[in-house]
Amino acid sequence: MAEGSHRKPHAIMICLPYQGHINPFINLALKLASKRFTITFVHLEFIHHKLSKAHNSNTSEVDFFREARESGLDIRYTTMSDGFPLDFDRDVHMWEYWETMLHDFPVRVDEFVGKIIQSDQILEPFLVADTSYAWCAPIAKKYNLVSVSFWTEPALVFSLIYHSEVLRKNGHLPFKDNMEEEINYVPGVQSINTRDIMPYLSEAEWGSIVQRALSLAFEEVKKADFILHNTVHELEYDTLLALNKYQPNYAIGPINFSATNTISKSLWLESDCTHWLDSKSPGSVLYVSFGSLVQTSKQVIEEIAYGLLLSEVKFIWVVRAGIVSYGDTNVLPDGFEDEIKDKGLILPWCNQIAVLSNPAIGGFLTHCGWNSTIESMWCGVPMICYPITYDQPTNRKLIVDDWKIGISLCDGKSVDRTKVAEKIKSFMAGTTSKSLKHEATKVKKTLQNALEVDGSSGRSFDQFVNDLKEKLH
Ligand code: UDX
Repeated sequence: MAEGSHRKPHAIMICLPYQGHINPFINLALKLASKRFTITFVHLEFIHHKLSKAHNSNTSEVDFFREARESGLDIRYTTMSDGFPLDFDRDVHMWEYWETMLHDFPVRVDEFVGKIIQSDQILEPFLVADTSYAWCAPIAKKYNLVSVSFWTEPALVFSLIYHSEVLRKNGHLPFKDNMEEEINYVPGVQSINTRDIMPYLSEAEWGSIVQRALSLAFEEVKKADFILHNTVHELEYDTLLALNKYQPNYAIGPINFSATNTISKSLWLESDCTHWLDSKSPGSVLYVSFGSLVQTSKQVIEEIAYGLLLSEVKFIWVVRAGIVSYGDTNVLPDGFEDEIKDKGLILPWCNQIAVLSNPAIGGFLTHCGWNSTIESMWCGVPMICYPITYDQPTNRKLIVDDWKIGISLCDGKSVDRTKVAEKIKSFMAGTTSKSLKHEATKVKKTLQNALEVDGSSGRSFDQFVNDLKEKLH
């Protein structure tokens, strides 16, 4: 046996408690395990509880990695408390929750990591955390561990937060009322308009907690040993290149599609719509979803609802509980579900990748969450963009202005049913749709090629694994 071949790096991975972060994180765990790493994967207890409910299993029995382990991967699964009772409503009290997560949670993680690494079975531990957590690098330093920061959104968004102090110094943050400005000095970003920058970088009230969390996190990410990005070199080449001048960055996306990936990660029960979709002609159905987290107004829902009906295009719409306000399950206009008959299907939650992969899907009306964006690109499905908040306006710029695989539903947030109907109609049937489909097919190929063993993300991941092993030894 060659010297050192018995060594097995051991990743301790602690996941951010949101669906849009859980999905890429679990896939990263599977990917690392497929490189013969040992993984200790940690969910917060309340997430474990939600998953158990969604998958109808006894809380103590559920283990998302059992199947992966049976196929020979070394993944251990455990949970830790965030300090709140299971029934505390973290959505309704998001502000209070994140205040505590910023200050008290790192102490818990510190203790937790300390205990794990004292275990005899941990040989070469390293810490992997979501970039949005500010504690990864300091805790890794305390225990003399290598730290890996995983950024689950586009490199453009990373770069804008990374350079937000420069934006502030130049007077571009906070945004000036009713004034849009073009910015062309962010390294690796040719040009960006202030309207396309994440609103949380500017917002004073609600956004301040997000802004504070991210500004702390981005101070710490500068000390990370490695930064992984769920994106593709070919699509964000200049931005990644510029970031590489500061620290080692690896574009390893799209991460949500590993071969070993059959574990359902949904926090809610998935409704099956395969039968309905299979009865529809190719490219005829519009899929509508605004992800797992953001909220919009009842009025927007109503305009979209009637816009869909007026367009006469067939649709599947995920109307998630909480999309308007938590606890309000009655968000669609009265009688709407009776009116749609066979034209559409309303679901509370679905297996999105399965839906987007169905040949009947011809388009995706999306809020531009990064996972939805990259899943749509993976399936070659063009998008109609209705960004709501967070990184979504910035993702819209990439989708519509840079990659030309989507159109905007409207300027700003205000929607009108007649215009929605016109947009949807021409998007699904007109000449614009042909050029969008053409570009979407090219981007799909780019993503597929990137994941090949000798593709850019395949090579980047191998390079990361080699660099990491070198640092660990
Ligand atoms: C959040 C932020 O809102 C988003 O802006 C950021 O880019 C990531 O974190 P979310 O709003 O949930 O995410 O959107 P998105 O990133 O698109 O993630 C949603 C995930 O839920 C996707 O992986 C999607 O496949 C999945 N999903 C969504 C389902 O499995 N079923 C559904 O019915 C809807």
